[in-house]
Amino acid sequence: MSTPILVTGGTGNIGRHTVPLLRAAGRDVRILTRHPRAAEPGITHVEGDTVKGTGLDAALEDVETVLHLAGGAKGDDVAARNLVEAARRAGVRHIVLISVVGAGSMPIGYFRMKSAAERAFEESGIPWTVLRVAQLHDFAMPMVKALPRMRLAPQGLRFEPVGVEAVAERLAAVTLGAPAGRVPDLAGPEVQEIGDLVRTFDRARGRSHRLLSMRIPGAVGRAYRAGDNLADETAVRTGSTWAQFVSAGVGSAASEVVGSR
Ligand SMILES: NC(=O)c1ccc[n+]([C@@H]2O[C@H](COP(=O)([O-])OP(=O)(O)OC[C@H]3O[C@@H](n4cnc5c(N)ncnc54)[C@H](OP(=O)(O)O)[C@@H]3O)[C@@H](O)[C@H]2O)c1
Repeated sequence: MSTPILVTGGTGNIGRHTVPLLRAAGRDVRILTRHPRAAEPGITHVEGDTVKGTGLDAALEDVETVLHLAGGAKGDDVAARNLVEAARRAGVRHIVLISVVGAGSMPIGYFRMKSAAERAFEESGIPWTVLRVAQLHDFAMPMVKALPRMRLAPQGLRFEPVGVEAVAERLAAVTLGAPAGRVPDLAGPEVQEIGDLVRTFDRARGRSHRLLSMRIPGAVGRAYRAGDNLADETAVRTGSTWAQFVSAGVGSAASEVVGSR
C-alpha cells in the first residue's frame, strides 16, 4: 500500500482540482486544513495551520510526498519554513511547492514572500520541486470587473492567465513524479494587455467601456511595463484562453438565470 500524499491547501480552488487527479492516479490524499470536514473515499483531513505551525507533525505521519498549496495574502514565507522543518523531522522524501511567475523579480511584498517560500524549499535538504504558475483566470476576473467601474486601464499591465484545470494537471504530474527542482513556469496560452481582457469580457456580455490609460508609478510600474510578472520563453503555455474562460462563465451564468426562473 502506498503512503498518503499530504496536500496543504487541498480545500482551495487549485487544491479542489488537483486532489481528484491524485486520487485518479490511485493515491490516497491527506489534506491539511484549518477547517477539517468529513472524510471521502481515499481522502482524509487533518486540522492544522501552516502559518502557526500547528498540526504539522500529525499531518506528516507516514507521508513521503507533500504538495504545498496553502497560501494567503500574508505569511506564506513563514508557512513554508514551518512545513519544511516538520517535513525534515518526519523524513519526507519529496516536497512540491506552487509559486508564482515573477516571484524572483517583482518588487511587491506578495512576490517577495513567494520567493522566500521557494528559498525555504530549495535550502531544505529535502528533494524538492517548485512550479511557478501565472495568475489564474479566476484571479484576473475581479480586476477585470473592477477596472471599468474606475474607467481605468493601467498602461503596460499584461497578464497571461491560465485555467485552473491546466494548473491542476501539471501539479499532479510533478507531485507524482521524481523531485525535479525548478521546473518550467506554467502560463496561459496568450499574453494580453489588461484592457484587452476587459474588452473580451465586455464583448461576451454585449457591453463596452471606454477606459482611460493610467500610468502605474514607481518601481512597481516599471516592473510591470518591463514584463517582470510574465513567464519567459522556457515556459509551458497551455490551457484555455481568456476568451474561452469568459464565454464558458458567461454561458453558465446565463443558464443559471434561466434555470432559476
Ligand atoms: N490563484 C492564483 O492565481 C495563483 C497563481 C499562482 C500561485 N498561486 C498560489 O497557489 C496556492 C493556492 O491558491 P488558490 O487559488 O487555490 O487559493 P485559495 O482558493 O484561496 O485557497 C487557499 C488554501 O490555502 C489554505 N490555507 C490558507 N492559509 C492557511 C493556513 N494558515 N494553514 C493551512 N491552510 C491554509 C486554505 O485552507 P483552509 O481554508 O481549508 O484552511 C485553502 O485550501 C496559493 O499558495 C497561491 O498563492 C495562486
